[in-house]
Amino acid sequence: MTSSTRGQFTSRFGFIMAAAGSAVGLGNVWGFPTQTASNGGAAFLLIYLLMMALLAYPMLVAELTIGRFGQSNPIASLRKIWTKNKFLAVAFGSIAMLTASMILSFYAILAGWLIGFGAEPILQLIGLHSLADWLVTFSTGRNVFLTVLFMSLTVFVVRRGVADGIEKWSSRLMPLLFGLFLLLIIYILTQDGAMTGLKMYLIPDWSHVNAALVVNAMGQAFFSLSLGVGAMMVYGSYLKKDVNIPKTAGQVAIIDTGVAFSAGLLIMPAMFVARANGVQIFNEVGELISSGNLVFVVLPSLFDTMGFVGEFLSVAFFALMVIAALTSSIAMLEVPVACLHEEMNIKRDKAAMMLGGIILLCSTIIAANFGLLFDWVATASTMYMQPLLGVVWAVVIGWVWHRNALLQEIKQGHPEIETTWFWKIWPWYVKFVCPVAILTVFAYPFL
Ligand code: TRP
Repeated sequence: MTSSTRGQFTSRFGFIMAAAGSAVGLGNVWGFPTQTASNGGAAFLLIYLLMMALLAYPMLVAELTIGRFGQSNPIASLRKIWTKNKFLAVAFGSIAMLTASMILSFYAILAGWLIGFGAEPILQLIGLHSLADWLVTFSTGRNVFLTVLFMSLTVFVVRRGVADGIEKWSSRLMPLLFGLFLLLIIYILTQDGAMTGLKMYLIPDWSHVNAALVVNAMGQAFFSLSLGVGAMMVYGSYLKKDVNIPKTAGQVAIIDTGVAFSAGLLIMPAMFVARANGVQIFNEVGELISSGNLVFVVLPSLFDTMGFVGEFLSVAFFALMVIAALTSSIAMLEVPVACLHEEMNIKRDKAAMMLGGIILLCSTIIAANFGLLFDWVATASTMYMQPLLGVVWAVVIGWVWHRNALLQEIKQGHPEIETTWFWKIWPWYVKFVCPVAILTVFAYPFL
């Protein structure tokens, strides 16, 4: 594959929308608010912000730089850097690709539910009551049906390639997502009870802070920026050489954090608005009702109390979640697609459909053995594989790659980088601090 035939992002805006689209997903609009709600509100928020800045952001720069240097899929990009040990390059590149596929296989099931919840009010409205009820009731048939739907959307975008698929759809969907968010937040904040939620969100309760909370915040930051699995590497490889990576990565991280913050601004007040409307949000012992319920029970019952406006809000809210999930799932699928397309010389279109089919098969197996497999796949891929692969990339940047070669790569988008604070700190930081910090998190449960 020559570089002239490779796809490329056509503008910096397009890249930022795509990378932010990859980062902004269920982790932001669902994971972050639920973690915050059950971990002392603002205390979790502050530690999360710290983790983003101190750990996730430097690793985002690392992944984007590896990809941009390689101008290829993660396996080939790593091979170009790890010239002395191509075996390890291929091995870790392949593990990253498998992990991305694994994440997609459970993510697509969740995203499918969201399609179901978004379609339900519309179907009720037009009188298809039993279909509507089926879509919001847990069953293997429903899970598989909706997963097929979501995977088809993902494949539809990815098979069109970088500029016509990923960039075009991210640039359309992300602004729509921001707009929907703003609308919903403004509406919720004007409702009774919203201020109680807002206070809980913004006033820290430090009694919740302990080592486990720090661990959670770090994992959440890693997941949220889509690190570890090569997704940011692939996107970096479609980036033009004159782009300033540290700056662009900063913008992506800020958008990602901004959306997570806004999701909290929407969901925490919404919980208390729901309570003001008579919905139960705390259990008997005064703890918040568990995470899954928040989105699939608390919010729908809130919308139910709001009559026609509620139906509308419900569709908007779930549409927003599906958009967030879709711009992330295309990034996940792009990892194996780029590998297969370039390493095996299989046409992108074919690679996207084949891999979409294989991953869908895995999703179906997970859906059919939900209780047994779902949590296991989700935990193994996100809690263990993502951070562990992050350690490998930090080692690649810090210990394998020549510092001078690294400098030459980053310098292309920022000629004066040597004089900046960023360059004085970052290479050293990624070499020593990032691997140790990530491993500490990883080791925490065993200590
Ligand atoms: N960042 C995404 C979210 O917040 C999830 C995610 C994790 C991801 N790993 C990924 C997305 C890899 C794309 C590629 O929901």
